[in-house]
Formats: sequence, structure tokens, C-alpha cells
Amino acid sequence: MAATPIAVVTGASSGIGAATARTLAAEGFRVVLTARRKDRIEALAAELNEAGHQATAYALDVTDRAAVDEFATAFRSLAVLVNNAGGALGADPVATGDPADWRQMYETNVIGTLNVTQALLPALTASGDGTIVILSSTAALSSYEGGGGYVAAKHGEHVLAETLRLEIVGTPVRVIEVAPGMVRTEEFATTRFRGDTEKAAKVYAGVDAPLTAEDVADTIGWAVTRPSHVNIDLLVVRPRAQASNTKVHRTL
Ligand SMILES: NC(=O)c1ccc[n+]([C@@H]2O[C@H](COP(=O)([O-])OP(=O)(O)OC[C@H]3O[C@@H](n4cnc5c(N)ncnc54)[C@H](OP(=O)(O)O)[C@@H]3O)[C@@H](O)[C@H]2O)c1
Repeated sequence: MAATPIAVVTGASSGIGAATARTLAAEGFRVVLTARRKDRIEALAAELNEAGHQATAYALDVTDRAAVDEFATAFRSLAVLVNNAGGALGADPVATGDPADWRQMYETNVIGTLNVTQALLPALTASGDGTIVILSSTAALSSYEGGGGYVAAKHGEHVLAETLRLEIVGTPVRVIEVAPGMVRTEEFATTRFRGDTEKAAKVYAGVDAPLTAEDVADTIGWAVTRPSHVNIDLLVVRPRAQASNTKVHRTL
């Protein structure tokens, strides 16, 4: 009997990562949930196991290279890696943005993705049919005022995806970039505005149906279950009410 294919999801403690773990578990993957908040990933793994799926939780900070390398020793073969851990900090103009925020966003979104991808690439290759998903953003493709450090970091992640795809062509690993627009998740905007829920709510104010974490997970689930020879290079997904990063229809 063939072994159950394994999918690692980073940032699986909330939002898109948690929804993706649920989707991939339902698709028949054994999911390995990682994030810094162990209690949350353990609770989700327990819920999935109770529902008859296969899930394990592993506390991991993607910016900690030694911890990521240690984590990777558990895998000789890996089918799917979803690099989802990331996010935004602040919405200040370039003129006044805090360099510490810029650094942290680069560390988490770009170096975090680099760390996990480098560490797990041998196992993905050894599987003979590996898939790497990189959760960038529409911020990876064009700028917006106040986006500053997040836009820069997500552009970095986009370049990482493009370059890796060029470099590993000919190996049995594909690189899929999913670039969502506005997704209303429980924590993204609250983290960005450091717990200011009023400011966070304004991001979605008057928008008829922003994307949900489940919408993005559905997109990821579809992309990774295409036949092996089909590589969805870049998938941009936005709510109907959003035509660009700066053109959003609001009923206010
Ligand atoms: N929401 C949107 O509008 C939107 C749009 C486009 C792209 N995205 C991207 O989609 C991804 C998920 O966003 P989301 O909306 O689901 O946000 P979220 O709910 O804030 O989730 C972010 C996840 O990343 C994890 N994380 C953050 N720093 C980490 C670190 N150093 N090590 C390990 N895990 C870390 C968090 O877990 P812990 O805190 O437990 O570590 C959490 O699980 C991000 O890359 C984000 O940039 C979001």
C-alpha cells in the first residue's frame, strides 16, 4: 500500500494556514501543522484526527533556521510544502515607516519561506513528485500607499518563487505562487495594526464579501491537486469587489 502523502503547512495556527490544513486533510494528505503557537495547532490537529484525518502539530518559528533544520530531519519524503507563515506590520508611508517593522516583515515572509523551502527541498525532491506553494499576495505584484515594507517583502517572496522555479526545472518539484487580494481573516489586519481592532475593521468596511480563508484554501487545494505535470505558476485571487490593491468598491 502506498504511504499517505504528507503536506507541511506553515502558519497553520490561524487564518489561511489553518483553513489550508483542513482542506489538504480532507484531500487525503497527512498534514503537519506548524506555527509558533503550539496550543492552537495542537487543538486543530486533534480536531482533524477526531474527524478521521491524519494530522500532527509541531511548534516552529520559520525565522529560526536551526529549529527549521531540526524539523526537516523528520522528513525523508514530502509531497507538499505550503509556505503560508507571514503577514504585515504597520501601514506607514515610506517617509516614516519603522525600519524594525520592515526588517521583521522581510525576516518572516522572505527569510522564513527561504529557510523552510531550503530545508525541505531534498525531501520534496526525494518524493519524486513534490509541490511547493508560496503564499505571496497581490502586494507582491504592485505597490500601494502605506504598503511599504509589506509590499517590499512580498515582492521578495514573489522573486524567490520565480527564481526557484527557474533553478529547479527538470527536477520533480513544482513551484506554485498564490497571490490573494483582500482576505478577511481573524488576525491579519489586527496584527498589522498591533491589536487595534477598530483600525483593522476599517480595512474591510463596506466591502461586500472580502475573500475568506476558506476561499484561499480552496484555491490552494485545487492548485496542488492538479496532475503532476501541470504547474500553476501564479494564481491571483481577489474578491469581486476589489479590482486592484487601491480600487475597492465600498458601500459606505
Ligand atoms: N489576509 C489577507 O488579506 C492576505 C492577503 C494576501 C496574502 N496574505 C498572506 O497569507 C498568509 C496568511 O495570512 P492570514 O491572513 O491567514 O494571516 P494570519 O491569520 O495573521 O496568520 C498568519 C500565520 O502566520 C504565522 N506566523 C507569523 N509569523 C511566524 C513565524 N515567525 N513563524 C511561524 N509562523 C508564523 C502565525 O502563527 P503564529 O503567530 O502562531 O506563529 C499565523 O498562523 C500570510 O503570508 C499573508 O501575508 C494575506
